[in-house]
Amino acid sequence: MANKKVLFLDTTLRDGEQSAGIGMTGDEKFEIAKQLQRMKVDIIEAGFAASSPGDFEAVTKIAKEIEGPTICSLARAHPNDVDQAWQAIQHAEKRRIHVFLSSSDIHVLHQLRKDREEVMGMAVSMVERAKGYCSDVEFSPMDATRTVPEYLYRMLEEVIKAGATTVNIADTVGYAIPSDFTRLIKDIKANVRGIDNVNLSVHCHNDLGLSVSNSLAAVEAGANQVEGCINGIGERAGNASIEEIIMALDTRQDLFRVDMGIDTTQLYPTSRLVSRITGMAVQANKAVVGENAFRHASGIHQDGVLKDRSTYEVMQPERVGVPGNSLVLGKLSGRAGLQARLESLGYTLERDDLNKVFESFKDLADKKREISDRDLEILMDEEKREASEPITYSLEHVQFTSGDHDIPTATVRLIGPDQTVITDASTGNGPVDAVCNAIERVVGCQCRLVDFNVQSVTEGIDSMGSVTMRVESSGKIYTGRGADTDIIVASGKAYLSAVNRMLAADEDADIPAAGTTPD
Ligand code: KIV
Ligand code: ZN
Repeated sequence: MANKKVLFLDTTLRDGEQSAGIGMTGDEKFEIAKQLQRMKVDIIEAGFAASSPGDFEAVTKIAKEIEGPTICSLARAHPNDVDQAWQAIQHAEKRRIHVFLSSSDIHVLHQLRKDREEVMGMAVSMVERAKGYCSDVEFSPMDATRTVPEYLYRMLEEVIKAGATTVNIADTVGYAIPSDFTRLIKDIKANVRGIDNVNLSVHCHNDLGLSVSNSLAAVEAGANQVEGCINGIGERAGNASIEEIIMALDTRQDLFRVDMGIDTTQLYPTSRLVSRITGMAVQANKAVVGENAFRHASGIHQDGVLKDRSTYEVMQPERVGVPGNSLVLGKLSGRAGLQARLESLGYTLERDDLNKVFESFKDLADKKREISDRDLEILMDEEKREASEPITYSLEHVQFTSGDHDIPTATVRLIGPDQTVITDASTGNGPVDAVCNAIERVVGCQCRLVDFNVQSVTEGIDSMGSVTMRVESSGKIYTGRGADTDIIVASGKAYLSAVNRMLAADEDADIPAAGTTPD
């Protein structure tokens, strides 16, 4: 018998962005979408077009420029949402509108304050409206796993009649356990007329840590589409980790017997990219993409792996794109060694770019004995950030003093507009605060720091620190990033990068927008 094909809808750019503290720019979303294209996901949920003009633009750009995957926008069961979803995705090669509406009594009676029949009518009419635009329509009954089964079956049947081509069973609050999912999917298949003519999807949240197990139970019971996010990011405890579901299906082909179109070797690069852009660290012991996922510490395990990797590895690191580490990079390494390693990490560089990166690499190698893959990723990020970010001011020099008896003081030298060199100093309640205050004095702005995240890129005392800062000014949030072996310097770079973004946004606000937002 032929294998069943399982489709993957990645919602990192929509549900993933609903993680507390995450805000991605349109360019960052586009970069992730390009990587999801390389990973060959079937459907990219690019955003929620009606939620903000920024999201509308981000979905539109992805729809216009990303070929291969279907591009989807979420829409509430409101006419305006459906219309805006269509406007944003209409230029895509393959496009989908995803309409959702609550179905559980808890939501219908207490949140929507409507009755079941009224909600049923809204679901049907909004699926019909979406279908008027687009042949590919997904409908999600929100909080499906806490919905009275008979009502859920009827709702699914009605939206299928109205034209839905995918119905998505959402465990919105992460309440279900795997046996619930097995039963629910089987019951839906047995009780909903027309279900075999559409895709049956699952969308699991991780409140009880069961989202991946629930998704797998659903596939075993007959679902043929799975939704999830890279690194399991998302609302509250997150969505199902899409990379974990993919590798479970891949590794246990003996059990699941499914076909997938995914390029599994892109999982690790995608995980790294999402972690870098969102500033959300991947825990070291995270399955599939964690730092320790393929490291063997105990002597017995090392002995086994040296003799035969299958003794203690259920999948090979290469299968998920974790690069091999046979070559140690350091200050004696040459351009060719650097280029080879960068290529294995998915970077292809022109000669001039390679020369530029090589210079930064040598600077770093003077400060660190060994340069790891993570260091290289950060180096590349910094190069890219400097090349792509709006730069009104650049940081030339930072100096600070601090200690338990001293008043933290910092001096910064910035190069500003027209190459003017400006130096100023300030105190603060810590060295980072002093550096930020000194930058504010030079630029003449005032921002409020709302989030400050420092990640050590590798272990060891000489590790690079990667800093993400979010600052608030006039009610808007700007994100900045910076990396250095010195975390105070990295913080100064991150702060200035956020300030430069704020200055660029202020400049744009002076120019009337050229009709890019919907009516
Ligand atoms: O969790 C949820 O219910 C959702 C829907 C919009 C599918 O994200
Ligand atoms: Zn969700």
